[in-house]
Amino acid sequence: EAGLGALGRVRGISFGAAVQLSLLEQDARYRQAFADEAALLVPEWEAKWEALQPEEGRFDTAPLDGILNWARAARMPVRGHALVWHNAMPDWLVAALGEGRNRALGLLKAHFDFVLNHARSQIRDWDVVNEPIANPPGSDLPERGPGPLRDTPWLRALGPSYIETAFRMARERDPTLRLTLNEYGVEEDTPDAAEKRRRLLALLRNLVNRGVPIDAVGIQAHLQLVRPFRPEPFAAFLAEIRGLGLAVLITELDIRETAAAPPDLARRDALVAERAEAFLSCAVQAGVRTVLSWGLTDRYSWLASDPGVALPGGRTHRGLPLDGDYRRKPMWHAVARSF
Ligand code: XIL
Repeated sequence: EAGLGALGRVRGISFGAAVQLSLLEQDARYRQAFADEAALLVPEWEAKWEALQPEEGRFDTAPLDGILNWARAARMPVRGHALVWHNAMPDWLVAALGEGRNRALGLLKAHFDFVLNHARSQIRDWDVVNEPIANPPGSDLPERGPGPLRDTPWLRALGPSYIETAFRMARERDPTLRLTLNEYGVEEDTPDAAEKRRRLLALLRNLVNRGVPIDAVGIQAHLQLVRPFRPEPFAAFLAEIRGLGLAVLITELDIRETAAAPPDLARRDALVAERAEAFLSCAVQAGVRTVLSWGLTDRYSWLASDPGVALPGGRTHRGLPLDGDYRRKPMWHAVARSF
C-alpha cells in the first residue's frame, strides 16, 4: 500500500518527517521507511546552530549535507530548522550574545549569510524563529514567563525586535524563501494554550502590520493526551492566522501518552490514533497543506529521551505513525484518513 507521502500528494498535502543523518546511515529499515512514507524532510538536529557553527566562524555542513544529498537522490524537498532558537545554541554563542547588541547582530548576519547561501538550492522554507512565545504562568509546560516573549539570550541581547530583525535578514538574503515562525503549546483546549494562542496572534498581527516579511506559521503539535483537544478553538485560531495572509504548517506532530497510559497496547494505540485524527482533520479542514511528524518510528522518537515524559514500567512511547519495528500503527491509518 502507498505511503503517507503518496497518499497526501493525491490530496494536495505534502507529508514529511524529521530525519536524523546517523540513522539514515546506520539503519536500512529506517532508510526504507523514509523512502516509503515521506515526501518532505526536516533535519531533526543537523540545521540547528550548534550543528552548523560549533565554533565561531567554523561552519560544519557535513551533517546537513548528508541529509541534503539523500533528499536530492530521493527527490524530496527539505525544510530548514531552525535559524534562531534558544536551544541547541553552542556555549560560545550564548557567551558572545552577552557582549552586546552589535556583537549579536554581527553573529546573526554571519550565520544567515553562510547558512542561507549554503542551503539555497535545496531548502526553500526555513523556521526563522523557533518558539519565541513564553508559556503562560500557571501552565504545566516549562519555561513560563509573564510574557508575551520567552526570555532567551537573543531577547536579552537584542530586545523584542530580534524576531523582526531575523525575518528581515532572511528576506534580504533570499527574497524567494518561505519564512516561517514555529511554535508549540498552542494546540489544545486548556487555559494556558488559549493564552499562548493570544500571545502568538498578538505577535503575528504586530509583525504583519509593520510589514515584517513573514510567510507562514509552523504549529509543532507535540500533543499530549493529558491535555484535552477541541477542534473549534483550534480551527478559529488557524482562521485568524490565515486571515493575516499567513500559511499554516503542522511541523512536528507526535502524541505523548500520560503516566496513566493503560498497559493494553491496542487501547493505547487507539487513543493516540483518535487524537491524531481529530487534530489533523481539523487542521486540514482549516487549510493546512503541509504536515510533518517528528520522526516516523517509535523506535527513535525523541519522546523516549525526554525524562519529563517517561511512562511507568519503562513502557515506550507510541506517538508516531510506525511502531518500533516499522509496522504501521492505528496512528498511521488515522493520518492517512485525515488527508
Ligand atoms: C528535539 C530533538 O528531537 C531532540 O533529539 C533534541 O535532543 C532536542 O530537540 N521542538 C523543536 C525541535 O523545535 O527542534 C525539538 O527537537 C523538539 C521540540
